[in-house]
Amino acid sequence: MQLCLVGINYNTAPLAVREKASINVEKLGESLSSLHRDIHRGVILSTCNRTEIYASGSDSTSLEKAGMLFLQTLTGSKGAAGENFIYILKNVEAARHLFRVAGGLESMVVGEYEILGQVGQALEAAGKAGMTDLLLNHIFQGAIQAGRRVRAETGISRNALSISSIAVNLAEETLGKLSGRTMLVIGAGEAGRLVVKVARDRGVSRIAVASRTHERAAALVQRVGGIPVGLDSLPQELARADIVVTCAGAPHRMLGTNQIEKAVQSRGGRPIVIIDIALPRNVDPEVANIPDVSLRNIDDLTNIYETNREGRLSEIVMVEEIVEDEMRRLAAWWKALEVRPLVSALMAKAEEIRDRQLGKTLKKLRPLSAEEQESLEAMTKSIVNQILKDPIQQIKADGDGEHARLMSELFQLDAEKRK
Ligand SMILES: NC(=O)c1ccc[n+]([C@@H]2O[C@H](COP(=O)([O-])OP(=O)(O)OC[C@H]3O[C@@H](n4cnc5c(N)ncnc54)[C@H](OP(=O)(O)O)[C@@H]3O)[C@@H](O)[C@H]2O)c1
Repeated sequence: MQLCLVGINYNTAPLAVREKASINVEKLGESLSSLHRDIHRGVILSTCNRTEIYASGSDSTSLEKAGMLFLQTLTGSKGAAGENFIYILKNVEAARHLFRVAGGLESMVVGEYEILGQVGQALEAAGKAGMTDLLLNHIFQGAIQAGRRVRAETGISRNALSISSIAVNLAEETLGKLSGRTMLVIGAGEAGRLVVKVARDRGVSRIAVASRTHERAAALVQRVGGIPVGLDSLPQELARADIVVTCAGAPHRMLGTNQIEKAVQSRGGRPIVIIDIALPRNVDPEVANIPDVSLRNIDDLTNIYETNREGRLSEIVMVEEIVEDEMRRLAAWWKALEVRPLVSALMAKAEEIRDRQLGKTLKKLRPLSAEEQESLEAMTKSIVNQILKDPIQQIKADGDGEHARLMSELFQLDAEKRK
């Protein structure tokens, strides 16, 4: 059984490419169905940092090709140009990458909490689509276990920043103290909730929360404060806010140049800071060219990510140790899984011989009582088991599969047929 990972992330692809590959929760089922045409067992992990396909099957080359094609179709960048954005990892390296992702090591904001839930959701969605198997389930569960240990045993997530809190920091860097300022938050999901919470703590005096569904905005402000508004109130709210943070899970742009130009006209020259942390972006990038508008996106937060990473170096070392510890457990399980057909073939061959020879011997002996026959059965089985015990342990522990190959050759085992 082979595992193949094909992905793009914030290290390999620019925002404009990543946003095309991003798949929100509402579209995940549909995307899994389309992946299923070429990959029968696979999980899609799509977050604001990455879109990754984890596929399992017997032919890793065809998994790789199908995964590449799927991502290139999403990004619309075919051929060599598209390939440059994509990374491919196989088997243990693919699993190690997922363990690191779940541990928060591969995130822009190292140690972020959200990723652990997202890994679980990705597995659940693939399971619902009937696209998981023993290998994918085991590897994803292992990654979640590693991620939980990381949070429990290290301080990596203690006071961890989130992209939402970094967005508020950036607003503060640009405008100075936020107390007395007004803010508009577009999007009432987890990202929006975190923005409002941090903005409240920084003393923002008025926070309007706009969402497609009014009830969701109302529920959010009830928990963390603010004023719920509808998307139809955006013109008035844009005219009023000093800071706009956009974090709606919409697949299309929600703010264009026309809207922002109109808002700017009614502001009498007062500057506006727009921070777009959505992926795909909620704001048309052309808005950056409008005078008195400062538009930032998720990739403009890079300096703060770097500082955050540097401040967590000692924890990163501890997290890496946990990841390696969990990887050793996984590797032992995987090895046992790989040699299972060979072990079955060996045991079946030995059992056939034992049974045949015992039958021949019994025919030559005087009729035995049931008790005597049982004793002979038990004794011959015990001899076979004891002879095979050490070689089986050796092939299970064997790192490069040399013992397994030798065993298969010497005993002429056709393990493939027993899979
Ligand atoms: N979660 C994080 O920590 C995080 C961090 C960084 C960036 N982001 C980015 O922030 C965005 C939001 O993520 P999220 O995790 O908060 O959850 P989400 O559930 O995807 O988004 C929640 C908000 O987006 C709105 N929305 C979804 N689809 C929409 C559409 N087609 N048109 C208009 N509004 C729509 C929802 O409206 P309804 O209430 O009507 O459903 C809701 O207000 C994403 O682009 C994500 O990549 C998230």
